[in-house]
Amino acid sequence: MNKTIIISNRLPVDLKFDEEKLVVKSSIGGLATGMKSVHSEGNGIWIGWSGLTEEEIEPSRQNEVDKALAKEKCIRVPLTAYDIENYYYGFSNTALWPLFHYFQAYTEFELTHWESYKNVNQKFADIILENVNEGDTVWIHDYQLLLLPELLREKAPNLTIGFFLHIPYPSFELFRTCPWRDELLYGMLGADLIGFHTYDYVRHFISSTSRITGLEIRFNEIFYKDRIVKVDSFPMGIDYDKYHNAALEHEVRPDATKSELMHNIELHNMSFSESKLILSIDRMDYTKGIPNRIKSFEYFLNKYPEYKGKVRLVMLSVPSRENVPQYQRLKRETDELVGRINGQLATVNWTPVWYFYRSMPFDDLIDLYVASDVALVTPTRDGMNLVAKEYVATKTQGKGVLVLSEMAGAAKEMHEALLVNPNNFEQIADTLKYALEMPEAEQKSRLEVLKKRISRYNVEKWADSFLNALEITKNAKPVTI
Ligand code: UDP
Ligand code: G6P
Repeated sequence: MNKTIIISNRLPVDLKFDEEKLVVKSSIGGLATGMKSVHSEGNGIWIGWSGLTEEEIEPSRQNEVDKALAKEKCIRVPLTAYDIENYYYGFSNTALWPLFHYFQAYTEFELTHWESYKNVNQKFADIILENVNEGDTVWIHDYQLLLLPELLREKAPNLTIGFFLHIPYPSFELFRTCPWRDELLYGMLGADLIGFHTYDYVRHFISSTSRITGLEIRFNEIFYKDRIVKVDSFPMGIDYDKYHNAALEHEVRPDATKSELMHNIELHNMSFSESKLILSIDRMDYTKGIPNRIKSFEYFLNKYPEYKGKVRLVMLSVPSRENVPQYQRLKRETDELVGRINGQLATVNWTPVWYFYRSMPFDDLIDLYVASDVALVTPTRDGMNLVAKEYVATKTQGKGVLVLSEMAGAAKEMHEALLVNPNNFEQIADTLKYALEMPEAEQKSRLEVLKKRISRYNVEKWADSFLNALEITKNAKPVTI
């Protein structure tokens, strides 16, 4: 039976040795949480990095690692500490990630990082070729593997290859600054279908391809060698039922089974009548606009002092890419800002910002979503942002307001959210006030439309429409021009 092989840098599980014990955790991030639902349903395998470097796996424990992965239908690509340093922290996360998110000043192009990036993409190709059979479909994900489609195509010309980018695709003016822009583009063009979250990213990609390669392009079809490469937008959805049903269950839990987190939230709400909770959840990443969010919350409290003591910002920041200096600086800046605002404004029984620097288990996430009155999602750039969609899915009672950055891919589909410019403190402060005072009928009507849309175009539909489009593209007749 033909299978779909999912390929991404990070597997849906992240392995670590904790005092000799092998610990298997879920990976964090939209790619992992979204694709996990697709993977668990299908008969395919997922190939990627286990989270452990080769140096960390003693030869005598390789079997144990492989078995733990096999249980999750996963196969690992062995990566060394050097690979992680240069390909992952290096080219992927200090060149491509900042460049594609318009953080040009953070972007560093290093030859050793690039060499390692090429080398690791080749390692992925080798492992895939060992595992692929005729008729299989290979679906490659994200910016860490831009060269992989062409590397596979060279060895397996008839293979069906899809590629999906989970982050924004930048404008030509940004992309052209990359010294290896040609190689990256031709690398992606090895795929039959290239997918992006939004139509804007599609346009940017087509414009870069046209100006850099000079290939013939008609609408969203690129004529490359004897193949048609199709480019299209597929806004990623979430596993709506999983979030919605979990929220329904949480709402009717008897007290005894509630989490400590929920008890604390309820305790606090009881002590303060009309107390409101604003939620933000993201990886600690400079693209997420965390410092600006804290500053605009501070600005809001000073502009509307009647809210002091009545509203809290609960901020869950998940540690991410901690070896990269920009992430370390962001962590320090965030700690300082939270310290400053809490130091200046807190009272004996009110803390304006509740700050968690860790990841939380699924049930705690649901508690946070369910308990919050407003979600404040203000990235300065984001490919999609699934947190915004998850929040809406958990609002089973029709109460809750989403404040969402215009710069998130999700804003293109979520017009009924309150859209803001993440750099405009004045606008965010006024929007927060509007959100906190929004009549219930308006909350309900906005949420209803959002929920309908998100439940219809869920992650399963997203995957199906990508894979169907891939099959159609593959079956289209080759052209000669
Ligand atoms: N998430 C998680 N554990 C946490 C916090 C967040 O699993 O402690 C998940 C969250 O539910 C969401 C994903 O991480 O599915 C974040 O995806 P998003 O698209 O918002 O941003 P990304 O991290 O991919 O940039
Ligand atoms: C984003 C990227 C993913 C990545 C995730 C977590 O969602 O699009 O490719 O896996 O962040 O980042 P990490 O570097 O920990 O894999």
